[in-house]
Amino acid sequence: MGGATVLVVEDEALLRWSVAERLREAGYTVLEAGTASAALDQARNAGPDLILLDQGLPDGRGVDLIAPLRELDPDAVLIMLTADARVETAVAAMRAGAHDYLGKPVNFEQLRLVVRKAAEAVVLKRRVRALKAGQAAPYTFDSIIGDSPAMRRVKQLLARVARSPSSTVLITGPSGTGKDLAAKVLHYCGPRADRPFMNITCSALPETLLESELFGHEKGAFTDARQGRKGLLEQAEGGTVFLDEIGEMSPALQAKLLRFLEEKTFRRVGGNTDIKSDVRIIAATNRNLPEAIAAHQFREDLYYRLNVITIDLPPLRERAGDIPLLVYHYIGHFCREFAKPPGEISAEALQLLQACAWPGNVRELRNVVERAVLLSDRHTLEPEDFQALAPQGPIEGGIRLPPGGIHFEELERDLVKQALARAGGNQTRAADLLGMNRDQIRYRIEKFGIGDRQHGSGDR
Ligand SMILES: Nc1ncnc2c1ncn2[C@@H]1O[C@H](COP(=O)(O)OP(=O)(O)OP(=O)(O)O)[C@@H](O)[C@H]1O
Ligand SMILES: [Mg+2]
Repeated sequence: MGGATVLVVEDEALLRWSVAERLREAGYTVLEAGTASAALDQARNAGPDLILLDQGLPDGRGVDLIAPLRELDPDAVLIMLTADARVETAVAAMRAGAHDYLGKPVNFEQLRLVVRKAAEAVVLKRRVRALKAGQAAPYTFDSIIGDSPAMRRVKQLLARVARSPSSTVLITGPSGTGKDLAAKVLHYCGPRADRPFMNITCSALPETLLESELFGHEKGAFTDARQGRKGLLEQAEGGTVFLDEIGEMSPALQAKLLRFLEEKTFRRVGGNTDIKSDVRIIAATNRNLPEAIAAHQFREDLYYRLNVITIDLPPLRERAGDIPLLVYHYIGHFCREFAKPPGEISAEALQLLQACAWPGNVRELRNVVERAVLLSDRHTLEPEDFQALAPQGPIEGGIRLPPGGIHFEELERDLVKQALARAGGNQTRAADLLGMNRDQIRYRIEKFGIGDRQHGSGDR
């Protein structure tokens, strides 16, 4: 299967060259990068279909590039290359979103096979997406579903803020409540809509890489910076930059961002001239920033600067009234997607869904409806179609205190451990399971000394 473009990211020149040559012989267009930042450049400029990613790069780990690369192009297929044969490494790579995994030394027969299969998969994915793009509605206020008083307030606020295209906006709310969606609606429903919308997840990149992604760098700013490069703030000129998970940004970068917000100018890494850029900053976080400030992890002055307009998306369980509308919407959506006749849902099933706690919020609801529509043979969805849902909500009648009492801390410690295990070590998800935020669970992990034995790579 020729024609596909493959980016080979490998710092060992000889190996990179021989892999690239083999793939060229097989009919692929091949690009090469020797560093993490060059890889991001190439990916942005050339849009490769397939990326072979070495684990150890001079300026970062391959696995840390997976998230930003996927953000640039969710259809591109990522294959990790590494000499590290441990299962944990493979698991971490897969979890981060790699599709496959090749050991070193590279077996060229195997390489060719894996690449061919991956190239076929990409072509398919791109075809499906192109088909969908023809039908998909652009982001409008109507793409935010919900008629609860809370969501009406959110939509009114969004409408007002979209019209004032210069103010900075902070979007808060737990995972899966629609922060990304709200940011896109803000951009696409305002006067900046015909300019770029660029987003970056602050927790996905090591500090130095995030800095040069955002602010750009000058030629020679670091050893392998052979050319200067514009960062997102310059690329998005006139548009919007969405900083996701801002709560994870390092203090040094927070200071640099604050300066940009105050003066509308910044410097590239290694640069000494001030550059002006007119972009709106939208930031989002599922962390409780006042708590992060108290813990000296977030700058108070930056918080007040970002906090000019805050849009807080409440957890789904606090607006259960929106659940029927969302369910109808997703039933319709997935029936169309799976080419099924329009389906319905029984009152009992709807009741069941309304009684759930939805720790994963709208994202989780969407996944649950998708699975039910896909697997059910019925025209009307019944409670049986949602069996995988753990019935929960407030524990029936509360937990009764045993006559002899309990050891509260022990119980707490045990619950935190269980939640971490169920979340595969991911602290954010474990916190959601307990109805806590990340700072609260971190505090307990430290207090009880649980952290070290969990798989450290599970967290974002
Ligand atoms: N009110 C809503 N109406 C329709 N779809 C929604 C709504 N809220 C969220 N969604 C959908 O739910 C999914 C998750 O939303 P989104 O990615 O915006 O969440 P998030 O708050 O950014 O989560 P995270 O903190 O994990 O990044 C998306 O598919 C989004 O389109
Ligand atoms: Mg998000």
